[in-house]
Amino acid sequence: MVFGSLNIDIIFPVDHIVRPGETIGSDDLVKSAGGKGANQAAALAKAGLEVYMAGKVGRDGRFLLDLLNSYGVNTSNVAEYDGETGQAMIQVDRQGQNSIVLYAGGNGRITGEEIRRTLACFDPGDILVLQNEISRVGEIMEAAAEKGMRIYFNPSPYDQQLEELPLSRVGVFFVNEIEAAALAGLPPESSPEKILRILTGRFPRTEIVLTAGKDGAYYGCEGMREKAGIVDVPVVDTTGAGDTFTGYFTAARCRGCSPAESLYIACRASSIAVSRRGAMAAIPLAREVFL
Ligand code: RIB
Repeated sequence: MVFGSLNIDIIFPVDHIVRPGETIGSDDLVKSAGGKGANQAAALAKAGLEVYMAGKVGRDGRFLLDLLNSYGVNTSNVAEYDGETGQAMIQVDRQGQNSIVLYAGGNGRITGEEIRRTLACFDPGDILVLQNEISRVGEIMEAAAEKGMRIYFNPSPYDQQLEELPLSRVGVFFVNEIEAAALAGLPPESSPEKILRILTGRFPRTEIVLTAGKDGAYYGCEGMREKAGIVDVPVVDTTGAGDTFTGYFTAARCRGCSPAESLYIACRASSIAVSRRGAMAAIPLAREVFL
C-alpha cells in the first residue's frame, strides 16, 4: 500500500533552470500525472504487484485516479475533498535535469480518521510505501508499525523535520546521495561507502538503498554491500526516475529477488524512465524491464 502524494505536474521544458530575478520562456506546457506517491504506486503496479493507494485529491485530480486504475492500482482509499489537488511546477532543462515547486493541496490535508480507515484494510506483513510529500507521515508510520506492517520510506523531499519522525520503525530506506548524506549527518559530497557505514550503524537491520544518479545505486544492510550501474541512455527527463527505482526495487524484492538482482532491475527501469518525458507516463512496463 502506498500512502502518499498525488500531484498534477505542470511541466515547462526550458533552456536552463530559471535563476533568481530572471524571467525565461518555455516553448511547451504539459499537464500530466505525478506525485511521488502516485508515481511509486504506478511503478509497483506496472511491475506487476497488487497495489493500493491512499491519499487525497480534489475534483481536479479525478483523472489521476482513472490513470492509476488503468494500471491496476486500487484507489478506493484515496479521499476526495472540496479543494485543489497537489500541484508541481516542474522546469526541465536541455540536460533533462529538473527543478520543482510544490503546492501540497490535498496531500497536506490527510486526517487521523483517513489514516485509521485506511490502515484497517491491511494486515501484519503488508508493505507500506511512504514518501515525505503528505501530512502526518509520523502518525502513519507509528500506526502501521503497531499493526506489524513493513515500512519502506523514501524521505523525499528531505527537510529538517524528518529527524522528528519515528525512523527506527523503517524497514527499508530509499535515499538519493543528498538525502542519504543529510540523514547520516555528513557533507553532501561524502562517498556512498562512508554514508552506508554510518546509516547501517544508525539503523541496524534496516536496508538502505542509495541512488547515486549516473553512478548507479548502492545497497547496505548490516555488513552486506551491493552495487549496480545504470544503463547508459540519452537523458531526456529525470523527473520520477527515483520513484521508478523505488517501485521496481520493491517489486523485485517482493518477488524474491536478491538485493543485488533488485538493484540491477531497478537501475534498468529508472534508466528507461529518464529516456522519456514526464513522470508517471515515463515509467516502463515489466516486459520492458524484465528481459
Ligand atoms: O518524484 C517526481 C515527482 O515529484 C513529480 O511527479 C512531482 O509531482 C513531485 O512530487
